[in-house]
Amino acid sequence: MDIIKARAEMREYSSRRRAEGKTIGLVPTMGALHEGHLCLIRSARRECGVVVVSLFVNPTQFGPAEDLDKYPRTFDADCAACERSGVDALFAPAPEEMYRPGAETCVVQERLAKMLEGATRPTHFQGVLTVVLKLFNIAAPHVAYFGQKDYQQTVVIRRMAADLDVPVDVSVVPTVRENDGLAMSSRNRYLAPDERRQAACICEALKQCRERFAAGERSAEKLKAVMRRRIDKEPSARLDYVEIAKPETLEPAGTVEPGDVALVAAFIGETRLIDNAILD
Ligand code: PAJ
Repeated sequence: MDIIKARAEMREYSSRRRAEGKTIGLVPTMGALHEGHLCLIRSARRECGVVVVSLFVNPTQFGPAEDLDKYPRTFDADCAACERSGVDALFAPAPEEMYRPGAETCVVQERLAKMLEGATRPTHFQGVLTVVLKLFNIAAPHVAYFGQKDYQQTVVIRRMAADLDVPVDVSVVPTVRENDGLAMSSRNRYLAPDERRQAACICEALKQCRERFAAGERSAEKLKAVMRRRIDKEPSARLDYVEIAKPETLEPAGTVEPGDVALVAAFIGETRLIDNAILD
């Protein structure tokens, strides 16, 4: 596996592999790799001739009071996991390599990036979209892989690629979960044991929502109330938002239809977790 730190070298690597006629799959990550990330890598491995993983804890997507400094950094273990998973190249630039002095251009979305996650984290998606576009330009993938776990992220990235004519297919991989249903996340390691137990309320709330939908309930208000009640039961849980939204526009649904998405964000203690479920 090649470990690449410089943008110019990454670009050169990709153009060489493209010239060989290979399909390049990119899996963007912030490291602290877990089974969710590995599942994206396996999809890329199945579908592409060359698999590139990027590992970059992107400072611009963290708010001033967020966890940039304490975000887990496990470079050696991440390298080993990529190697075992058959990754061809790991792109791991330093922050100064990604953002040069004087950089001031960024990708802004007017509507999609301001709702749901964007309401609580106003500059988050601007940071995500800017770094993802940079990664697309540097690694020049044919296909890029993202997890359904961050549902809104997949929607804003798809929107950007369409709006800015970025020639990359965005592929979305289902959420990988722990045994009790908790969506895997690099932030789960912040949870104390008791919080870890309570954190399952998020996926249980989504499960109850799906069950009520399957039983015929179509009122978004009633389905949201079911989810709120489940989360409110846990002493360490504080709901940030619960919404049922249209899959592409993320507009709130009044009457819920198959394909709509239930989205939840909640603090468990100090740790903010998100999850979602497509109602089908
Ligand atoms: P990160 O949180 O490291 O996640 C990298 C990718 O793994 C994202 O596409 C995310 O949705 C996916 N992922 C995380 N947990 C998952 C799970 N349990 N099941 C399936 N996929 C999962 O998301 C980011 O990094 C950043 O915002 C990034 C896109 C890299 C831009 O900096």
